[in-house]
Amino acid sequence: MGRQVLVTGGTGYIGSHTVVELQSKGFEVIIIDDLSNSSAEVVDQIEKITGIRPLFEQFNLLDAKRLNTFFQKYNHIEAIIHFAAFKAVGESVNKPLAYYQNNLISLMYILECMSRYKISNLVFSSSCTVYGQPDQLPVTEQTPKKEAESPYGNTKAISEEILNDVVKATPEITAIALRYFNPIGAHPSSLIGELPQGVPNNLVPFITQTAAGIRPQLSIFGDDYQTPDGSCIRDYINVVDLAKAHVVAINRLLDNKTKSRYEFFNIGTGKGASVLEVVKTFEKATGVKVNYTIVARRPGDIEQIYADTTNANKILGWKAEVSLHDTLLSAWNWEKKIRNIN
Ligand code: UFG
Repeated sequence: MGRQVLVTGGTGYIGSHTVVELQSKGFEVIIIDDLSNSSAEVVDQIEKITGIRPLFEQFNLLDAKRLNTFFQKYNHIEAIIHFAAFKAVGESVNKPLAYYQNNLISLMYILECMSRYKISNLVFSSSCTVYGQPDQLPVTEQTPKKEAESPYGNTKAISEEILNDVVKATPEITAIALRYFNPIGAHPSSLIGELPQGVPNNLVPFITQTAAGIRPQLSIFGDDYQTPDGSCIRDYINVVDLAKAHVVAINRLLDNKTKSRYEFFNIGTGKGASVLEVVKTFEKATGVKVNYTIVARRPGDIEQIYADTTNANKILGWKAEVSLHDTLLSAWNWEKKIRNIN
C-alpha cells in the first residue's frame, strides 16, 4: 500500500490533476470535496486515467464534526494537500464573508486536525495574487507582497500568514505553500479539465467556449497597457506541470528535505504572455479562429506579472515543461470533448 495523502478539493480543477499525478507515483489518495464546484464523475475519470479509484468522501470542511470523524477513520494519512477553497475573484468582492469564512476557517480546521491527529506535512494552494502589481519583474519569492486586490486574494495572503504563525508554534507541522501563476489547460487524455460554472471569468475557458460557439465573442480587457502589444501579461502554467509540482513538494516534506518548516515557491513558467499572444497561439495551435473585440480595462486587473522560478527549479528540482502552444491545444481538446465537437 502506498503512502496516504489527503487531497481536499480533489475533484476540482487543479486537485483532480494532482490526484492523477500522485496516484501515478504510487501514493494512495483520499479526496474530500463537497462538490460545490465540481462533480462526482471526476472520480470515475481519475480512475479511467490511472486505473485506480481514489477514496472519496463528500462533505464540507466547515463541518468540524464530520472532519474529526474522518480523521478518526483514516488514521494513516501522512500528508495533506489543501486545495478546497472558493476562487472567483469577482464574486469575492460581493461575498467577502463567504470567502473569509470558507477559505480561512477550512484552513484553520485542517491545521487543528493536523495537530490533533499527528499529521506533519501540508502543501497549501497559494497564488501569485499575493504580489499584487509588483514593482519589479519577474517576481521572486522575496518580492514584497502588496495589499490584496480582492477578498479572494486577501484569503490567500492571510492563509500564508496563518501558516507561518502556526508552524512557529507547532514544531510537528511543516508546510509548503505553492504560489501558482495562471493555471490553464487540461489532462492530455481529455478526461479531466476545467469546468467553469456559467460564464467563465478566466481567459482560456472563455477562449475555448468562444471557439466552440458557446460565446459569441471574447472581450479583451484593454489594449492600452504599458506592454509591447498593449494587452496584459501573465505567466500561464500548464495544469499537469502544476500538479507535478505538488508531488515534488509532498516528496520534499516526506523525505524531510525542507530547509525551514514553512517554505513557499513560485510555480510558473518564468515567461510572460500577453492576452493577444494567447489568442494568436490558440488560433495557431488549433486552426480555429477566435472572434474577439477590445473593450475597456477590467477593474482590478494588474498590468503584468510573471514568475522568477529559480527556487522551484533549483530547490524543488521542478520546472514547467509543456509549451503554451501544447497547453492551449489541450484546453481545446478538452472543450471539444465535453461539447461533443469533432
Ligand atoms: N481576460 C480578458 N478577457 C476575458 C478574461 C480575461 O481579456 O474574458 C484577460 C484579463 O484581463 C487578464 C488575463 O486575461 O489580463 C488573465 O485573466 P484571468 O481572469 O484568466 O486571470 P487573472 O490573472 O485575472 O487571475 C488569475 C486567477 C486568480 C488569481 C490571479 C492572480 O484566476 O485566481 O490570477 O493574479 F488570483
